[in-house]
Amino acid sequence: MEWNPDSWRALEAKQQPTWPDHGQLERAEKELSTLPPLVFAGEARDLKARLAQVVDRKAFLLQAGDCAESFDGFNANAIRDKLRVILQMAVILTYSSGVPAIKVGRIAGQFAKPRSKPTETIDDMELPSFLGHMVNDLPFSPTDRKPDPRRLIQAYNQSASTLNLLRAFTKGGFADLHRVQAWNQEFVASSAEGRRYLQLASEIDRALRFMEAAGISSKHPEIHEADFFTSHEALILQYEEALTRRDSLTDEWYDCSAHMIWIGERTRDLDGAHVEFFRGIRNPIGCKVGPSATAADVLGLCEILNPEREPGRLTLITRMGADKVGDRLPPLLEAVRDAGHPVVWVCDPMHGNTFTAESGYKTRHFDDVIAEVTGFFEAHAAAGTWPGGIHVELTGDDVTECLGGAEQVSNDDLAKRYETMCDPRLNGRQGVDLAFRVAELLSVNADR
Ligand code: PEP
Ligand code: CO
Repeated sequence: MEWNPDSWRALEAKQQPTWPDHGQLERAEKELSTLPPLVFAGEARDLKARLAQVVDRKAFLLQAGDCAESFDGFNANAIRDKLRVILQMAVILTYSSGVPAIKVGRIAGQFAKPRSKPTETIDDMELPSFLGHMVNDLPFSPTDRKPDPRRLIQAYNQSASTLNLLRAFTKGGFADLHRVQAWNQEFVASSAEGRRYLQLASEIDRALRFMEAAGISSKHPEIHEADFFTSHEALILQYEEALTRRDSLTDEWYDCSAHMIWIGERTRDLDGAHVEFFRGIRNPIGCKVGPSATAADVLGLCEILNPEREPGRLTLITRMGADKVGDRLPPLLEAVRDAGHPVVWVCDPMHGNTFTAESGYKTRHFDDVIAEVTGFFEAHAAAGTWPGGIHVELTGDDVTECLGGAEQVSNDDLAKRYETMCDPRLNGRQGVDLAFRVAELLSVNADR
């Protein structure tokens, strides 16, 4: 079947808003299609080549960021703080395990959310569910919840300025390895995880000073700059189509809304619109895989999304739940391994471990996050496959959304700083703590 950027339109697209005004939607799509691409195809190819290194067991993917980015309170400090935690985690992973960490943010485009129910009812009033700021707004009122296509343009604009700042921070000195100590934010530094991080940072400092003293130049760009890539769930296909451009160098199609995009657990039907759209773009792509996925489903995804078996093209992000990972993951790993498909396997230990606490807050327990990651590493060790990365929801802010961690966020703490618009995120301390635990699991693996 022939593929075009709009061939998905002939198929069923799940989880789409009911846009009230189609004329307005078309105008927004048209405008988006004239705006500059957010990323360049060559950058997406660069990320794909790095992900091929993961397939080769030589690198590890750290994909992290917000559950949903917000149009409200959009500011430079929040972006900087999120970047800072991700840089800290990457340094921990790389230094402790010796395996380079590829940094990909859930950022600069993560504005659309699939939901368990299309509508929400409170006191007999039924309204569309909140689908992310690319579509509607969170407050429970008919005007806020009404899907508004002008939000597509605002999402593009906010993505552009976020990406601009990320490029400035990562290339302009903020990400310099000489600053590893300075990345330790106040609220992280005062904790046990922060102290452990500081010790590691001072070792890196010493190593850099040693190199300089020994006459080995530390002027390499790898030391002064970081490579940071963007990603989001490509849920709203009109937005993605409008930013899909033909690369002038290769004549191939790239979705230039981000370096990498992924298909969510609820929209991965083999005959659905999302799989159709993803099949034709040449970016590195991801697909979430939950506990209901069969080996046949996963092999189908591999065949359709990566028929040429190009390493780095396809990342499967498993999110089974701590109690299910031991049962559900092994048959998938074995099937893909036996079929010889090159896949980057990544663990999302967040989305299979969400529950509602007594206090009514939607939360996740840090112990479950660690348990799923541990189960993921065990399953890969048994199958002889490479545990290629983690995919987590976090923020650089000092929130209390996930329970546990070394500082023991308790049920009573949840109300203190519960700020997420959608799913509960790890705070900076919990992120740093997670990175240390993963680094330990990874170094055992790397020594195998
Ligand atoms: C998400 O990553 O925010 C998400 C909704 O995940 P999933 O599709 O795995 O449920
Ligand atoms: Co989420």
